[in-house]
Amino acid sequence: MDKLEVFGEKRLKGNVSISGSKNAALPILAATILSDKKITLKNLPNVKDIETMIKLLESIGSIIKYSKKKNLIEIQNKNRIKTFASYNLVKTMRAGILVLGPMLARYGNAKVSTPGGCSIGVRPIDIHLKALAKLGVNYKIVDGYVYANSKKKLKGTKIKFSKISVGATENLIIASSMAKGTTILSNCAIEPEIKDLINFINCIGGRIKWIGKRTLKIRGVSNFKEAEFTIMPDRIEAGTYLIAAAVTEGNLKVSGINPNIIRTEIDILKKIGAKIKFQKNQIKIIGTKDIKSINLKTSPYPGFPTDLQAQLMVLLCKGKKHSVISEEIFENRFMHVAELNRMGAKIRTKGNKAFIEGNTNFKAAELMATDLRASVSLILAALTAKGKTTINRIYHLDRGYEQIEKKLRKVGAKIRRVF
Ligand code: UD1
Repeated sequence: MDKLEVFGEKRLKGNVSISGSKNAALPILAATILSDKKITLKNLPNVKDIETMIKLLESIGSIIKYSKKKNLIEIQNKNRIKTFASYNLVKTMRAGILVLGPMLARYGNAKVSTPGGCSIGVRPIDIHLKALAKLGVNYKIVDGYVYANSKKKLKGTKIKFSKISVGATENLIIASSMAKGTTILSNCAIEPEIKDLINFINCIGGRIKWIGKRTLKIRGVSNFKEAEFTIMPDRIEAGTYLIAAAVTEGNLKVSGINPNIIRTEIDILKKIGAKIKFQKNQIKIIGTKDIKSINLKTSPYPGFPTDLQAQLMVLLCKGKKHSVISEEIFENRFMHVAELNRMGAKIRTKGNKAFIEGNTNFKAAELMATDLRASVSLILAALTAKGKTTINRIYHLDRGYEQIEKKLRKVGAKIRRVF
C-alpha cells in the first residue's frame, strides 16, 4: 500500500493553485442525472471520490467523456438509466446517496445502497429520507439498500429540515428541481457548495432562488437544457494550505479562491497571529513563531468547518498556551489525536472536546492515517517535525486532495510517495 515520507522542518514558500471543489462537484455530478442533454463540467478536481462518482454514473448508463488532464467532463443521460447504486460504490464515498433524489425525480424509483457508518461517526440518512417522503416518495430499507419509489411525479411542498444537513439539503434541492409545482425548503445548509449546486441547476434551466437566509424556493421544471459549468474552487483545500503555511512559519500565496468564502478561516488565522492579505482571487499568508492559543467550535457554514478541524488542531498544538476545540458536527472526529500525541502533542479528549496543550515540537514518527482530513493533518504535523515521518494507509488522502505531494514539493516541502 502507498505511504508518504515527509522530511520536516521546511518553511513553505511560493504559490499554490487551488483545484476545483470535490464537495461541490459530487452533488453537481449527481444532478446531471436530471437532464437528457449534454452537460460539460470544467475545473473538476482529479481526486478519487470524483472517479468513484463517475464510475457510479457509468454503472447506471450515463455516457461520459472524461479528461483527467483537462479537469473536464461531458455527460449525457439521453437513454433511460438504471436506477441502482451498488454498495461497492457507495461504501467508499457517502456522496453516492446523492443520486437518490435525481433518480426519483426523473424516473420515480431507485435502489441505492445506504452508506453505512464511517470512521468519523454514524452518519445516518434519515433527514434525506423523511424529506423525500414529503415529496411523495415511499421507501423501505432492506438488507442495506434503500428501495424508494413514488406512484406519481414528485410533488412540491413545504419542508423544514429538523437539523442542518449539507447532503440532505443537496438531495432535496436536486429532487425538487424536477418535482411538480413549488417546493419551499427551510433550515437549509448554506455552504458555498450548496450555492454552486444551485448555480449549476439554474444554469441548466432550473428555477431555484433564496427567499431567506436558510430558505429556498424551488419551482419544478420538466426539461433541462444543454450547458457548460465551471466548478467552484475547493475552500477546504485552500484552508489546508493556509494552515500549512501558518504551521511552518511559511510565506505562501494561495491562488484561485475568492477569499470571501473563507472569511471565518482567515479571521481565525489572523487571531492566531498569521499575517494575511488578500486580493480578488488570491490570499497571501505569512506564518508566525508566536502562535496564539484560542478556543473554537466547529459549526455549519458560515461557522468554522469540521473539515478543517484536524488541520487547525495541529496549528494549535504549537500555540503558546492551552486551546480547546469543540467538534459540534460529527461525534467521532478526533482520530488524528492519538497519532498527533505519538508525535509529541499533548491533547486530551473528553466527549466532543479536545483540550490542547501548546508548545509542541512535533517529532517524526511512523503513523497510520485514518479519514481524509485526519490524514492531511498528519502531513501538516510532519512538515514541522525533525527527521523522517512515514504516513501509512494514505488512500483517504487521494479521495480529496489533488496532487498534494506535487503541490507541497513546489513550495519547498520534502515529501515523497513510496509504493
Ligand atoms: C458534508 C461534506 C463533509 C462535511 C459535512 C459537514 C460532502 C460530500 N461532504 O457531509 O465533507 O464534513 O458536510 O460540513 O459534501 N445527519 C443526520 N441525518 C441525516 C444527515 C445528516 O443525523 O440524514 C447528521 C450527520 O450525522 C452529522 C450532521 O447531520 O452529524 C451533518 O451532516 P451533513 O451536513 O449531512 O454531512 P454530509 O452531507 O454527510
